[in-house]
Amino acid sequence: MIEENTAAIVLAAGKGKRLHSDVPKQYLHIGGKPLIYYALQAFEISVIEQVVLVTAPGEEEYCRREIVESYGFKKVTQIVPGGEERYHSVFCGLLALKNCEHVLIHDGARPFLTSDMIWRSLCGARKYGACVVGMPVKDTIKISDSENYASQTPPREQVWAVQTPQSFSYHLIKEAYEKLFLQKETNVTDDAMVLEAMLQKRVKLIRGSHYNIKITTPEDLAVAEVFLKEYQKEEGAGQ
Ligand code: CTP
Ligand code: MG
Repeated sequence: MIEENTAAIVLAAGKGKRLHSDVPKQYLHIGGKPLIYYALQAFEISVIEQVVLVTAPGEEEYCRREIVESYGFKKVTQIVPGGEERYHSVFCGLLALKNCEHVLIHDGARPFLTSDMIWRSLCGARKYGACVVGMPVKDTIKISDSENYASQTPPREQVWAVQTPQSFSYHLIKEAYEKLFLQKETNVTDDAMVLEAMLQKRVKLIRGSHYNIKITTPEDLAVAEVFLKEYQKEEGAGQ
């Protein structure tokens, strides 16, 4: 079943600097497939209608041939170049979409999202206008002052580590990003922040998964190999 006028933006235009790898991290292999394969496959078998893949400028053809055609991703309707920072790439993806009512923005560096998470994200976007998957933190979090002394300890049950998909009513998130680009400076690190800051809109937090990690530093690759086995059991042979 396909839900009409829904889209996913899959981000793969980063440089992966913290991974210190020669190959951009989205193309590194885990379980014999490029990292970016997993997120695209999750959307391919989901209720989402179309996918916009955002790549580094100049890598569009490579992605079309080696990823989209090679693995037969039919839902990827567009491959567009991204920008310098993540929020530039998100905006490129948003501008590429037409006739979209709800959009899920996802880091291509998070391979283990599930069909269930995609469905709950879409439902959240429809119900609340904006929702983000995340998990309540396991560690106690300290806010530090400028000299690295602990200055505050927020109550742990109120602290969430947010993940992606971050899911929105399309016109809301587009309006928020348009407003963001009218500003000179910004320190945006996720999409929910843009909506909160630009439109003072509330964003609902929904449960993601402890498996929904972002591959960021080298030790994440070892964890990913272990998680992949669990993920394949859960999501079936299609993965
Ligand atoms: N991303 C993007 N465009 C950018 C920067 C990031 O599309 N200009 C994407 C990445 O490809 C990744 C996601 O946003 O899927 C999350 O970003 P991050 O984990 O920070 O990836 P990188 O920016 O590639 O890594 P690093 O910050 O270590 O360089
Ligand atoms: Mg980055």
